[in-house]
Amino acid sequence: MNTGKIVRTIYFEDDAVKMIDQTKLPSKLVIHTCVTVKSLIEAITSLRVRGAPALGVAGAYGVLLSAIQHKEENCEQFYMHLREDAKAIAEARPTAVNLQWGVVAQEKLLDISAPIEKTLHLLKENAKSIADKDLENNEMIGKNGAALIEQNDSILTHCNAGALACVGYGTALGIIRFAYAEGKKIHIYVDETRPLCQGSRLTAWELLHENIPSTLITDNMAGFLMKQGKIQKVIVGADRIAANGDVANKIGTYSLSVLAYHHNIPFIVAAPTSTIDFSCNLGEEIPIEERDGNEIIYWHGIQNAPESVHTYNPAFDITPANNISAIVTEKGIATQPFIETLKQFKP
Ligand code: MRU
Repeated sequence: MNTGKIVRTIYFEDDAVKMIDQTKLPSKLVIHTCVTVKSLIEAITSLRVRGAPALGVAGAYGVLLSAIQHKEENCEQFYMHLREDAKAIAEARPTAVNLQWGVVAQEKLLDISAPIEKTLHLLKENAKSIADKDLENNEMIGKNGAALIEQNDSILTHCNAGALACVGYGTALGIIRFAYAEGKKIHIYVDETRPLCQGSRLTAWELLHENIPSTLITDNMAGFLMKQGKIQKVIVGADRIAANGDVANKIGTYSLSVLAYHHNIPFIVAAPTSTIDFSCNLGEEIPIEERDGNEIIYWHGIQNAPESVHTYNPAFDITPANNISAIVTEKGIATQPFIETLKQFKP
């Protein structure tokens, strides 16, 4: 996973969606293949593919996969099944708006009067361009955001907003990659990110691969490190950004933003403009995915808590715009007041 030769974490090949299976990392690097929409939905809900931009691409590839599955049907059946599958894919996870965005970008091409072959061709081309654009966007986010990074910064990041969460390169980690490649001396503190440990399993793995100096901490250590003056910036990704700049991201991001605000540490969000949902005015309108409590009780089959304990497992939280210093996109950087500055990114 080198910045020079980008390895795609999700791609379409031989009429199938292929992806690095993120549930197997860091111990095994396995390519998972989905030949049906059902298996793709399973891959999305079980987080084999995860991270907002990667979910957008998975959504676009999913509609293509559906078209391939139904191509022998008559036109009426074909378009009916395509619409049903598109809805099911878009609803597989509720918080990252990119998933719906990727599906809708494909649905816009559906014309019931068009021959199936033509639709197939359009869906294939569009999915490819969405995937290619994701890489391009991430490199631009990296370039734009690196301007905010100073020599000798220690940066805290949460969850995984890296190459694995996108087609490649990453958003928050894109900025880190770019700044490091520019020759800036930086150190990254990686939050473990309970309960599914995207930080320790995925971000730590990516940074080690690139030889970017990093240190793993558990989530409850962040405040102490800030108090000790060990953190100069926090950089995270986003699953959905409301029009006022409130940000939905991995659970724990809100707590970090409060800590950063208290310690006067810049809190930077990195995301493509496809993550901004202008139809959501406020963070409160963003649906928050609630996942199975067994993700807290068990870790890879090992029991961590009494089996019958009550659990609450929201996968995301909302960071209020007020706690955020900058939102870095491929089109530029927005700063306060986001309600005004985000408007420049409206499609
Ligand atoms: O549940 P996940 O692992 O899909 O959550 C991912 C995150 O919260 C990421 O920070 C976000 O999608 C941005 S990825 C560039």
